[in-house]
Amino acid sequence: MLTVEPTGAILGATIRGIDLSRPLTEGDFGRILNALGEHGVLRFPEQDLDIGDVQRFSLRFGDIQGASAQDPDKTTDPLANVGVLSNIKENGAYIGSPDAGQDWHTDMSYRDVRGFVNVLYGIRIPRRDGKALGGTEFSNMYAAYDALADDMKARLEGLTATHDFEKFWEHMRRDRASGRPPMTPEQRKRRPPVVHKLILTHPISGRKALYANPGYATRINELPQAESDALLDHLFAHQLEMRFRYTHEWNERDLLIWDHLSTIHRAIADYGPNELRLMRRCQVMATKVFDPDFPRPAREAALQAA
Ligand code: OGA
Ligand code: MN
Repeated sequence: MLTVEPTGAILGATIRGIDLSRPLTEGDFGRILNALGEHGVLRFPEQDLDIGDVQRFSLRFGDIQGASAQDPDKTTDPLANVGVLSNIKENGAYIGSPDAGQDWHTDMSYRDVRGFVNVLYGIRIPRRDGKALGGTEFSNMYAAYDALADDMKARLEGLTATHDFEKFWEHMRRDRASGRPPMTPEQRKRRPPVVHKLILTHPISGRKALYANPGYATRINELPQAESDALLDHLFAHQLEMRFRYTHEWNERDLLIWDHLSTIHRAIADYGPNELRLMRRCQVMATKVFDPDFPRPAREAALQAA
């Protein structure tokens, strides 16, 4: 029987009693969706998963962004959309992205169809003196919204923000000495800025969340530049207040999933080049979750089984 144990912190829960290498029933999927909508981040400890398991579980939530989704002609590998995050090098080259997500952001807020869930499977976790390094930190955007003053909530309701992929890319190059090359004109053309409302009603929980992030949000469209800059600075500072935050400390064989619609996150870069980290990752897009007929059957099955 699947159990949901909240962390007791501002977000997060641990799910036990389920083996994700086995087919997932509709009822269990419904419980997982409900827990995700409520707690934002779910940890499934002690999972033994191969690449296909990670992909199959991820696909329950929606389509996966990846080599095959972006560029179907480029690959025939059916598992190409399961990515690797790692600072491990083979023959002088990193085997995966070494510095993905190392400052606050929300995956794929820069796309029209934005990110819904990330699925990360911890294979190798760096440790120093027995303590895990390379944690993933989250901030709760339901709590950030709830904590806004009423007049601010009302003001934000009608506003939209522009999100631009290039903002984070350039920040990593400029401020973090990332070895990323400059974006090419073709890459820029493939990633034009997009617009999303600042306040989102979560399709699973029905709660309101602040949908902005320092990584990609560049502009509040309805305001003159100076006012937009001031309001964004205010919102970025607000959404990063310590009271909204929680850090997941990794263990090998943790499968971690998180909801991009109600959280923002960053990877903590507190480990050195010889402290090795290896994760499998699927970035699941919100291709299904805003369709009411997607969560409904699973949630009804979850209720019936309860
Ligand atoms: C990501 C990301 C966090 C981490 O996968 O989108 O930001 O801790 N990673 O690796
Ligand atoms: Mn990320």
